Amino acid sequence: MNTRIIGVSVPRKEGRDKVTGASRYVDDIRFDGMLHGATVRSSVARGRILKIDFDPRIPWAEFTVVTASDIPGQNCVALLIEDQPCLADTLINHPEEPVVLLAHPDKYLLEEARRAVRIDVEPLAAVFTIDDSLARKQLIWGDDNVFKSFCVEKGDVDSIWHAAAFVVEGEYETGAQEQLYIEPQGMIAQANAANGVTVWGSLQCPHYVHKALTRLFALPKDRIRVVQTETGGGFGGKEEYPSMIACHAALLAWKSGKPVKIIYDRAEDMAATTKRHPSRTRHRTAVSRDGRLLAMDIDFTLDGGAYETLSPVVLSRGTIHAAGPYYCPNVRIRSRVVATNAPPHGAFRGFGAPQSVFALERHLDRVAEAIGLAPDEFRRRNFIHEGQTLAVNQVIRERVDLDRLLDRALELSGYHSKRRQFQEENRNAAIKKGIGFATFLHGAGFTGSGEEYLASEVALEATRDGQVRVLAGSTEMGQGTNTVFAQITAETLGIDYAQIEILQPDTALVPNSGPTVASRTTMIVGKLVESAARALQHSLMERGLLKPDYAPVEFTAACREYIDTLGSLKSLIKYQHPSDLHWDDQRYQGDAYGAYAWAAYVAEVSVDTRTAEVRVDDFVAVQEVGKVINPVLAAGQIEGGIAQGLGFALYENVVWQEGRMLNAQMTNYIMPTSMDVPPIRVFFEENPYARGPAGAKGIGELPLDGTAPAIANAIAHATGADITRVPITPELLLEMLEAAHA
Ligand code: MTE
Ligand code: MOS
Repeated sequence: MNTRIIGVSVPRKEGRDKVTGASRYVDDIRFDGMLHGATVRSSVARGRILKIDFDPRIPWAEFTVVTASDIPGQNCVALLIEDQPCLADTLINHPEEPVVLLAHPDKYLLEEARRAVRIDVEPLAAVFTIDDSLARKQLIWGDDNVFKSFCVEKGDVDSIWHAAAFVVEGEYETGAQEQLYIEPQGMIAQANAANGVTVWGSLQCPHYVHKALTRLFALPKDRIRVVQTETGGGFGGKEEYPSMIACHAALLAWKSGKPVKIIYDRAEDMAATTKRHPSRTRHRTAVSRDGRLLAMDIDFTLDGGAYETLSPVVLSRGTIHAAGPYYCPNVRIRSRVVATNAPPHGAFRGFGAPQSVFALERHLDRVAEAIGLAPDEFRRRNFIHEGQTLAVNQVIRERVDLDRLLDRALELSGYHSKRRQFQEENRNAAIKKGIGFATFLHGAGFTGSGEEYLASEVALEATRDGQVRVLAGSTEMGQGTNTVFAQITAETLGIDYAQIEILQPDTALVPNSGPTVASRTTMIVGKLVESAARALQHSLMERGLLKPDYAPVEFTAACREYIDTLGSLKSLIKYQHPSDLHWDDQRYQGDAYGAYAWAAYVAEVSVDTRTAEVRVDDFVAVQEVGKVINPVLAAGQIEGGIAQGLGFALYENVVWQEGRMLNAQMTNYIMPTSMDVPPIRVFFEENPYARGPAGAKGIGELPLDGTAPAIANAIAHATGADITRVPITPELLLEMLEAAHA
């Protein structure tokens, strides 16, 4: 395919505004008479609210005070279900649960007032661990503490164990992880009976917020408007929680009659908003004498926190990815997400897959060792090939060549020679070196029939001077939506990149193109953009205004003529589910995703055995992602994801006490800095995906899946420690090193 601008690293559409400071983030926006809003939260994990006490030293008459009784509609933050209250009314189910809202023109007085509200609570016994929740020590959600469970069955695992040459078991855990977007969460609202409710804020999914506000205010849809302001990163953390803050700001605005702004500081953001779900995975694996997978029995559990939020979706993706890119005739994956009295865990880049893939890729290295095969040789004997089925019985119809990806990654990293060399040199060294890898896949877009239900829409609109505007609800949060949409449109229409404008997502102006999640924007929504561009072009050609092989100036002339004679020139495209993709939601089988990206990542580490500090010295990431639309942005996605995966693997440790995050500061919640991130060498293989725009697949979350297990496998190689948990903090590694010695 000859492309002009696809595959070219054009500058970001919004890049100039970002670097010159012209971009307007939510906290840059001010309205006349605006108040600041604050949230009074519970300090206990579980209990019954007895009384709310307002210290008389505060001039409360100057404040707007909102409690649950002020809610005009339903007291919930509507998402998948309606279990989460917008403000706790009678029961507290987690620390940091919002109970009272305050607004005042003076931010500082507001903070004093916040501290002067006391919530009297009669404590109730709470649940803080997966095991206590499963054992129903206390019933804290529904009739079994389980938000959602899945069971995937392929073949018959139980008929295999007795005949297998090897059976290897393992148990793996991952911790919570904070998204740590640069810009904390924030919203501004205007709300009154005359004009309805409008909010502006930092968010990923304008239509999620729209739905929540509609329910909370019991207003018709057209009285609610949600506008995305420039967003300084989301990473999944701005999927659910912006609905909560929008509801809060809107309630204060409704009651005060004034615009209200709520901006979280870092500590509030870290303590109160969603994080990656902690997980536990158990594996039991049967392998033949010649190293072929015979049966995989996988048990995957997530800690969901106190309310359901997006947990079922996170569990779903984690479940489907749990058996990896391997062919195995017998697989059973049982999974569930359970309630605990911690703030709800939620979406974070990878949606459960980084958890289950860590377990799998670490486990497979341990299986390889147990059966006496090299880790790469064991993987190669089991890689999935075209025509074979994944755990969910999805037949792989695209070309997939994991051997080639692994070859390339091992070669570029010098894996084989280093593997030998390090083993030699480590013997008497205090600083031991190791090299390890992970091979994995990641499906983009909503699972199964999800895209069909979403039925996303995108519109394009041309102006008289040949500018083309993209109208979509998809948000830019640094990952490149604006640039990629503009490249696809310019390429399809044969016009200049500068002729494309991306409209700011505003539910009053753009169609619902679905949430900006699940790495779906380029692959799914981008395809709609491409189709809408074709439709626009077709309108012009059909009228004889444009001939094939036109120049950009001719496109402009055609737009002018069309608009002058026929009125507006627009196209609207709605998602059509491919008729050959089938998904059975009951049995959890079928075409889980339209396409997968495939990858092999290699990490090289040094471990100081005296301090148990780990350094990642080199990282090679080879992936097949369909067609690369913008090489610089694509490499940026991979590098950023690996940095985030490195934090997940080594540093980012949430310290919990009775459901509350104790280290909600960037001084004691340690994330990698540029000093901790190794050179990341990114390589793409291109195998255009027939259904992607210009052949592209989704890549946004992929890098999170393979990074932690590659690092863990490298540490195990360096030290012999049997790593089964992340983050591998020095404290944890010391324990594991001692265990390995004993
Ligand atoms: N990259 C940047 N710079 N900022 C982000 O917030 N979010 C990630 C990923 N990459 C994110 C990012 C997550 S969680 C997802 S699901 C995808 O981008 C979403 O964008 P996409 O659909 O365009 O891949
Ligand atoms: Mo990403 S976790 O799907 O926003």
